[in-house]
Amino acid sequence: MTLGLSISNVTKTWNPDGSSPTPAVRNLTLDVNLGEFVVLLGPSGCGKSSLLYMVAGLEEATSGSITFDGLEITQPSPERSLIFQEAALFPWLSVRDNVGFGLQIKGITQTKRRQKVDDLLKLVGLAGAGDKRPHELSGGMRQRAALARALAMDPKVLLMDEPFAALDIQTRARMQDHLLRIWRETGASVLLVTHSIDEALALADRIIVFTSRPGQIKAEIKIDQPRPRDLHSPEMVDLARRCDALLAEEVNKAFAEQELL
Ligand SMILES: Nc1ncnc2c1ncn2[C@@H]1O[C@H](COP(=O)(O)OP(=O)(O)OP(=O)(O)O)[C@@H](O)[C@H]1O
Ligand SMILES: [Mg+2]
Repeated sequence: MTLGLSISNVTKTWNPDGSSPTPAVRNLTLDVNLGEFVVLLGPSGCGKSSLLYMVAGLEEATSGSITFDGLEITQPSPERSLIFQEAALFPWLSVRDNVGFGLQIKGITQTKRRQKVDDLLKLVGLAGAGDKRPHELSGGMRQRAALARALAMDPKVLLMDEPFAALDIQTRARMQDHLLRIWRETGASVLLVTHSIDEALALADRIIVFTSRPGQIKAEIKIDQPRPRDLHSPEMVDLARRCDALLAEEVNKAFAEQELL
């Protein structure tokens, strides 16, 4: 049995029987080990979100298989939390009740819930914001509240689809630090999509560069450097150049294809 996430020869075609079937990813094989931090980098429309939806259990693969700890993924599970670019919190609930929502559904008693939620709020740097409503928070705080809500379910893998894209650069750097700390403390695997090469370099154990649509794996870049990483070091600058060149090739291909349409 393979522990962790195993994506094996997965193809996803949207509207396969319709008039314009859209192949999103093709023959994709990727394993994410327990506790590993994997970042997906690729041109717009190459199927990164489609892949995360399948791993989350929200969409079915057209062919191939995706397993977690050896079990076929057929539906969503709190073990595999998906976090989007814009945090989707319940606007009518306080931050504390948002974070505790899943625990309440699970039937965890109020005292235990309160303890766990307060610990999580501390972990994501929102200790003082439990009684606030989502609209009273900044974008970065909302994203951290969404992270705390996902963490409340003790996920084994965090799926993150451009989670910090809507944030300013300074907040983004802080969020990356938060995420790295949480990743270390929880031991969860992370599969994160970003368009930012710097973000990928700061976070990843392994960067997977996708081709343009239908997405296939173009390159895999392992990064052994300890964190926090100095992105100005010669090694990291070199890696950044490599990622940039790989991506540029694919983006050019995608644009050329668009122009032919
Ligand atoms: N629900 C859907 N129905 C039909 N086609 C879809 C659906 N979702 C995505 N697609 C198509 O699948 C392809 C891949 O889309 P996807 O959203 O996975 O790309 P992406 O890599 O996440 O792009 P971006 O970086 O812009 O977020 C695109 O051509 C898109 O139009
Ligand atoms: Mg996407």
